[in-house]
Amino acid sequence: MASSLWFLCLGFSLLASGARGATPRKPVDVPFGRGYVPTWAFDHIKYFNGGSEIQLSLDKYTGTGFQSKGSYLFGHFSMQIKMVPGDSAGTVTAFYLSSQNSEHDEIDFEFLGNRTGQPYILQTNVFTGGKGNKEQRIYLWFDPTKDYHSYSVLWNLYQIVFFVDDVPIRVFKNSKDLGVKFPFDQPMKIYSSLWNAEDWATRGGIEKTDWAKAPFVASYKSFHIDGCEASVNAKFCESQGKRWWDQKEFQDLDTAQFRRLRWVREKFTIYNYCTDRVRLPSVPPECQRDRDI
Ligand SMILES: *[C@@H]1O[C@H](CO)[C@@H](O)[C@H](O)[C@H]1NC(C)=O
Repeated sequence: MASSLWFLCLGFSLLASGARGATPRKPVDVPFGRGYVPTWAFDHIKYFNGGSEIQLSLDKYTGTGFQSKGSYLFGHFSMQIKMVPGDSAGTVTAFYLSSQNSEHDEIDFEFLGNRTGQPYILQTNVFTGGKGNKEQRIYLWFDPTKDYHSYSVLWNLYQIVFFVDDVPIRVFKNSKDLGVKFPFDQPMKIYSSLWNAEDWATRGGIEKTDWAKAPFVASYKSFHIDGCEASVNAKFCESQGKRWWDQKEFQDLDTAQFRRLRWVREKFTIYNYCTDRVRLPSVPPECQRDRDI
């Protein structure tokens, strides 16, 4: 299974490498301290090579987290993460953007750990005006604990794209025309954290965190931020419409990217709120757009 998956990926990347997609620029290796500060439990963050690499650790007393110094309206945000290896069941490693008010906007990556050898789940979600309930869950096509992989968000007025390496795994199109709120006027900070979520993360809390395996450690590097920095209360950004992420080629996915997204849909998706008629009896409007993929 694992090796056939791998061949599938290889064939796929050979296929896709011919087409030049509008993939955001390759992030450079930015050290932690340039854009980020710890949020809590400072002693649970370790720094290496002058902060170009860090490790978060979780034990039975506390997890930890960090956040960007600045707030941003639109841009491209990424980091490379190596997830908690071994028995990580019950742990959640999160990378998300969020505004700081009650009717907040949020763009989420959450990596749910698992028992040794069992697959991680990557859950994504989007909150607009304080409302979430837009979960999608996928398995990854690689072991995220073995090597660093990049996780990134492209956010402009047209779409929010979640990338794993160069593969778009989710698109949330601006569907204002369908009456769906889209994050556009609330600057967000970037956050990451590692915490214990044994009550819900593992199949509804069936598997508990094994504290005998603590500390649980996630590693990070390449803290790339390329956004329009704005004060927390700004409603727009001065350079809005003029930045690279506003340009035509970033307003929609190109053909190669759509193909990759479809591949993720077909092979790795385990949950999509768009198709959950038990929880959401009527199809959320933005999902009509989702179906075209
Ligand atoms: C953990 O592994 C089991 C068994 O392969 C799988 O059903 C589940 O989706 C995985 N992820 C989580 C977070 O439970």
